[in-house]
Formats: sequence, C-alpha cells, structure tokens
Amino acid sequence: MKHFAVSGAFAASPAQSPQEEKEDGMTEQGFKRFRRRRAPAAAMPSAVGAAEVPQLAGPAAGTAAQLPAPLPEPWDRIRQLPFDAAAQAKARLPLVSRFRTAPAAKSFDLLRTRLLHTLKARGWKRVAVTAPAAGCGTTFTAVNLALSLARVPGSRTILMDMNFRRPGVAQALRMQAPWDLADFLSGTVRMEDRLLRPLPALAVGLNGTVDQDAAELLHGCSCAEALDGMMLRSGADTALFDLPPVLEHDDTAAFLPQVDAVLLISDGTSTTAAQLAACEKMLAGQTQLLGVVLNRAGRTDHPLN
Ligand SMILES: Nc1ncnc2c1ncn2[C@@H]1O[C@H](COP(=O)(O)OP(=O)(O)OP(=O)(O)O)[C@@H](O)[C@H]1O
Ligand SMILES: [Mg+2]
Repeated sequence: MKHFAVSGAFAASPAQSPQEEKEDGMTEQGFKRFRRRRAPAAAMPSAVGAAEVPQLAGPAAGTAAQLPAPLPEPWDRIRQLPFDAAAQAKARLPLVSRFRTAPAAKSFDLLRTRLLHTLKARGWKRVAVTAPAAGCGTTFTAVNLALSLARVPGSRTILMDMNFRRPGVAQALRMQAPWDLADFLSGTVRMEDRLLRPLPALAVGLNGTVDQDAAELLHGCSCAEALDGMMLRSGADTALFDLPPVLEHDDTAAFLPQVDAVLLISDGTSTTAAQLAACEKMLAGQTQLLGVVLNRAGRTDHPLN
C-alpha cells in the first residue's frame, strides 16, 4: 500500500526529488505545495482521464447506454435462417406446418402433446427417433414433430441429424448443410457454430457428410460431453435425434446412452410385427420405448393387420 501511495503522489512532480519532499514532512506548507503541483496535472487532458471522468463522475454516470451490453445467451447466438412460407413450400418432405388442417398435422400435434406430457412427467428431454428399416419415415416424423414442438409458446426444441449413413434433415427442409456434425460431436466446434435456427424456437443440427464409421464417433466420451454441454447451454426443453434404422446399423445402439427414450417409427405399408419385436428386444434394458408411431397408416396393404 505504501509503495502505491508514494509513487502516485510524486509521479507528477519532477521539479522536486522525493528526498526533498520527504524533508518537508507533512507541514502545511508542504501540503499546499503538493496541492499546487497536483492541480494542473489533474486538469491535463489525457486519454485515460478523458475516458474515465464521464463514467465515474459525469452527469451521465451509471446510465445504461454506457454500460457494456450484456452478451446474448448461446441460444440467441445460433444463426437464424428464414424459414417462411416460401421456404417451407420448397421443402422436400410434406410439412405439417404448411397443411395445418390436414389429418397428419393433427396427428403430429397430438403426438407432440402426449410426448411433452410424458417427458415432463419423467423429467426427460432427449428422444431418439428411429425405425426398424430404412424409408419408414424417421426423418419425416422427426422434422414434423420438431416443427410441431416449436409452436409451443416459450419452448425450445433442437433437432439433430444423427443419421450419418443417410443424412436427411437438411434435404428434407431444403436447407444447406456445408458441414457435418462430427467436429461438433468431437468437441472441436461450438454448438453456436453448427446449429441453425429456422424458427425462433427451433434449432437444427444439419449433417452434410456421409460417415460409415459413425458408430465410433457416437460411442465416444466427447460426443456425450458435447451433447451435455449443448443441452445445458441451449436451455432446450426437448431434443430430437434422427437416427439410422435400428436393425441395419449399430449407430443407434451406440447412441442410446445419450438419450432418455426412443420413439420407434413403423411403416404401415412395410414394417412387420417381427421387425418391431426385434427392435423392442434390442432396446430393452438400454433405454425406454416411448411409443411406436404408425406412419403411412390407413393403407389397405397394412402388414401389421
Ligand atoms: N406419412 C407420409 N406421407 C407422405 N410421405 C411420406 C410419409 N412418410 C414418409 N414419406 C416420404 O417417404 C420418403 C422417405 O421418408 P423418410 O426420409 O422420412 O424416411 P427415413 O426413415 O428417414 O429413411 P432413412 O432410413 O433412409 O433415413 C420421403 O420422401 C418422405 O417424404
Ligand atoms: Mg432419414
């Protein structure tokens, strides 16, 4: 403390040595001399002085305009992409948000509400969407369910394309995916730099690259850490993960520890009871089966009948 006080008092007094000043002691004369010397120094314009005075003692001190702006939270830093009616019309998949009165739209809203009730009751947030075989409608269901979830006021939904075999979410939404999610899942890239927000309440993680060794990536500790961080920082209520078919690759099995539950999509025109039983057997003991969605229902050639 002493060192700072002494050097501060004498820094602007080159005319007199510290030794001479010390001899003056704290007499009234010495004090007056000291004040005379300090006065012009305080009035001297300096870059630091000019910046500091208005902040500390000026009439505008303490106003919000001069306080540093708070950083936007991670969710708000995710880049927004317009996904208006024109963009939705170009989407490859039929989107229920475009056909609000269609029976499919009502089915997705019903599924959303039931899903939300279950997730809330059990404190779950992460749901894998998968199917026994390719083409059953996993991406169709995941995208439409995510759009339906994103209409819940005050909610936040994330849809991640974890199908490294046949990524489909970007194509489904006709959005560009000039990257893959591997660098995000390996922990080298931040969530804000890999997700996009087509709607205020919806963030999507698009995948633009096929990776036949995805199971190893999905197994890794860095994948678990990246997803834990994403859920924490984003403040998302629900995360849907579009995964490859259960019976075709081990990617989904590798990823199961990262989710709370699974939504299984069956194709009303092709999925067999034996396939569903095989999926249930595979999932048993590893995760919870939220339910089985019957996609393309209402056809006469229903193999489950
Ligand atoms: N209920 C439906 N009504 C109309 N079209 C549908 C329906 N379900 C799926 N489709 C269409 O079927 C095709 C395959 O669906 P989708 O891409 O969702 O399958 P997938 O299970 O994700 O396949 P993959 O395993 O290859 O990823 C898409 O063109 C999709 O638009
Ligand atoms: Mg798909």
